[in-house]
Amino acid sequence: MIPVILSGGSGSRLWPLSRKLQPKQFINLVSDSSLMQDTLSRLPQDNLSAPVIVCNEAHRFMVREQLQDMGVTANSVILEPYGRNTAPAVAIAAFQVLESVGDETMLVLPADHVIREHEEFHAALQLAETAAEKGQLVLFGITPNAPETGYGYVKSDSNEIMQSVFGVDRFVEKPDKETAQGYLESGDYFWNSGMFMFRPSVFLEQLALHAPDIYDTSKLAFERKAKDLEFWRIDEGTFAFCPDESIDIAVMEQTDKAVVVPLDAGWNDVGSWSSLWAERDKDDNGNVAIGDTQIIDTHNCYAHSTNRLVSMIGVEDVVVVETKDAVMVLNKNKVQDVKKAVKSLEAQH
Ligand code: GDD
Ligand code: MG
Repeated sequence: MIPVILSGGSGSRLWPLSRKLQPKQFINLVSDSSLMQDTLSRLPQDNLSAPVIVCNEAHRFMVREQLQDMGVTANSVILEPYGRNTAPAVAIAAFQVLESVGDETMLVLPADHVIREHEEFHAALQLAETAAEKGQLVLFGITPNAPETGYGYVKSDSNEIMQSVFGVDRFVEKPDKETAQGYLESGDYFWNSGMFMFRPSVFLEQLALHAPDIYDTSKLAFERKAKDLEFWRIDEGTFAFCPDESIDIAVMEQTDKAVVVPLDAGWNDVGSWSSLWAERDKDDNGNVAIGDTQIIDTHNCYAHSTNRLVSMIGVEDVVVVETKDAVMVLNKNKVQDVKKAVKSLEAQH
């Protein structure tokens, strides 16, 4: 099994802590190491090839430093000039895997998730590997515990193909709250974890079938890659023509080879301030307080200070994040809207 780490996201919903030049996957958000480092260190150690990392070129030295820190030598660090979403990133990794180690099952992992229960995770990997070796495209599905609107949902069918490996009925990407509530109550839906396992040959064959433009342009961008120090830069001129599409839409929703392996291992994509709040230890009133903070008569809040004292008095469900150059005050029920603030700031600068 060869891990492929997708590390190209911008983590804009965790602004102002997560920034363009240092997005959340490179920050020590929930432990003493970064989310990317945790992603690598929680993998089972036997039968594991060196990882392929796909990231934005702006982050290459951070990736190098964090790998060195852990004593990890990567199979390769592949640099994208800009993000074209997950379908092209996974395609490029698949070409790299085929070229460097052959048709070994690849485990595709976003660099910015938390998984608490490592044994359960490893057990799910084993089931998934068996299915992937047989030519399935495995998606890890999480049993939902809230009507989250920031996730995709997948409905499995009743067809248990192998032990704990289910067929797929349908995918729904980021439904509204009401629909998500219905899915939660029905008990038939999983969250799409964004984590996958398959053979590179099967993935690429399905990509060529369902999204030939992405297949052709990523293949060419990969073939025209150039070495820069120890990094591989894919060809910018070719990649510019690659459509911007997620692996979910380009392949998983179209293919008849998709299966779901349930994962119940304390998974959290820490994609927003509320999911980070859910992940961290709280005081008796449900508050998370990081850094220099003062919390009085306050409930279910998140206070994060990096430089100056943050003082919260008599508030509920509020997130305050203080950094050197920005302070954000946010209603905890509006965490998906941080993206809007970041977009509007980008438009002004
Ligand atoms: N290298 C690279 N290049 N990585 C990327 C790119 C890219 O262009 N775009 C995204 N990624 C990485 C991000 O770093 C992130 O870790 C992961 O791929 C998923 O991308 P997101 O942009 O965070 O997707 P999402 O959160 O909106 O939705 C996906 O993940 C959810 C679970 O976290 C979907 O798969 C949802 O269905 C799913 O529920
Ligand atoms: Mg995400």
